[in-house]
Amino acid sequence: KSIVVLISGNGTNLQSIIDSIDKNQINGRISAVISNQADAYGLQRAEQAGIPTRVLSHKEYADRHSYDQALMAEIDQFNTDLVVLAGFMRILSDDFVDHYQGRMLNIHPSLLPKYKGLHTHRRALEAKDAEHGASVHFVTPELDGGPVILQAKVPVFEDDTEQELAERVREQELCLYPLVVKWFCEDRLVLQDGNVLLDNKVV
Ligand code: GRF
Repeated sequence: KSIVVLISGNGTNLQSIIDSIDKNQINGRISAVISNQADAYGLQRAEQAGIPTRVLSHKEYADRHSYDQALMAEIDQFNTDLVVLAGFMRILSDDFVDHYQGRMLNIHPSLLPKYKGLHTHRRALEAKDAEHGASVHFVTPELDGGPVILQAKVPVFEDDTEQELAERVREQELCLYPLVVKWFCEDRLVLQDGNVLLDNKVV
């Protein structure tokens, strides 16, 4: 399968997928990594791994629609089977999301449907939640609202800082995302009528 990964930052999730592919754990290859930020460290990770990179700065486009159209054109050059959002900090227009329906994944640092959007660790701490975590989901037009494929939970300790909790969640993310990408690349994962099917069973 041809995978395109979209990033805006550090790219630790990208790295976990690169590493998994290197170990032949995923039946696919990353055709390109695209960032909206020229200084995203993840671009260097990609270059290190010999993966083509592109920077598409949203600042060079008049509006969301024209940016998303350009991004789509870029992605589609790679005969892309799967789009992986890995810390891509942009809201995507409905046209864009529809175009990649059933073939675009996102990872979000919370136990969805809890804490969509930003500052999830802070919000979990403020709510004194006993557990927190990360979710991988198919992307649908509602922000962080698509059907969940897989989650990992972590405990929240009373004296946790936001940083400590974020680190605990991130560790889980690095296991979750490669596993879901692997399933997708083995044709075991399908989005059907709003439901996630894994090996033909509703998740
Ligand atoms: C992760 O916490 C992910 O859940 C969120 O953005 C962060 C990306 O981190 N969507 P990285 O760039 O993969 O290190």
